[in-house]
Amino acid sequence: MADDLNCTVNQATISVIQGDITHQTIDAIVNAANSSLMGGGGVDGAIHRAGGSAILEECIKIVAKQGHLPPGKAVITTAGNMKAKHVIHTVGPVWHGGHQDEAAVLASAYRESLKLAAANKLGSISFPSISTGAYGYPVKEAAMIALKETADFLAKATSIKEVVFVLFDPHTFEAFGNALQHVAREKK
Ligand code: APR
Repeated sequence: MADDLNCTVNQATISVIQGDITHQTIDAIVNAANSSLMGGGGVDGAIHRAGGSAILEECIKIVAKQGHLPPGKAVITTAGNMKAKHVIHTVGPVWHGGHQDEAAVLASAYRESLKLAAANKLGSISFPSISTGAYGYPVKEAAMIALKETADFLAKATSIKEVVFVLFDPHTFEAFGNALQHVAREKK
């Protein structure tokens, strides 16, 4: 089943909306962080501002214990003051033209975030458009990777029954909507 902005994969739904990810009432929102986990601009800054100091306090403990977060990996913290229950922090690749494994690292950022959500028995997760802001990843290609990786993950049994892509601007929203329709057609 698919309409323009929703599709079903193995009893789970994937949807694409335009909005602010910090407003989502959901089990986990994903943060496009940097390896230091100390916050930054973009969605990282918005999440830390909206969630408050509890998020940073947990990030500091994580880095003290295991060091910086490598690109493509993910960790989980509280969502602090936000309506979401958790924040899954992941680090996407910086775009350097596409010949330094950027696609594989971006796919891993989505996959590791989904795996971590499932390991915590979460039912719902929201993603921003990882790496397509400050890190410069071309939006169209990033959207296809995001949707394909998510659909492939949901094809297997998992606790996750809802994945929502929350896009901040119309161009990114359109790219993810197109990618969703492409993936929905492939799943038929
Ligand atoms: N809700 C949803 N999406 C948002 C929000 C928000 N509140 N704020 C920004 N975005 C969108 C941006 O418009 C962009 O489409 O998130 C996408 C990712 O952009 P960035 O936040 O710049 O993330 P990224 O490209 O992965 O760069 C990460 O930027 O903020 C720093 O600390 C961060 O160093 C890291 C780098």
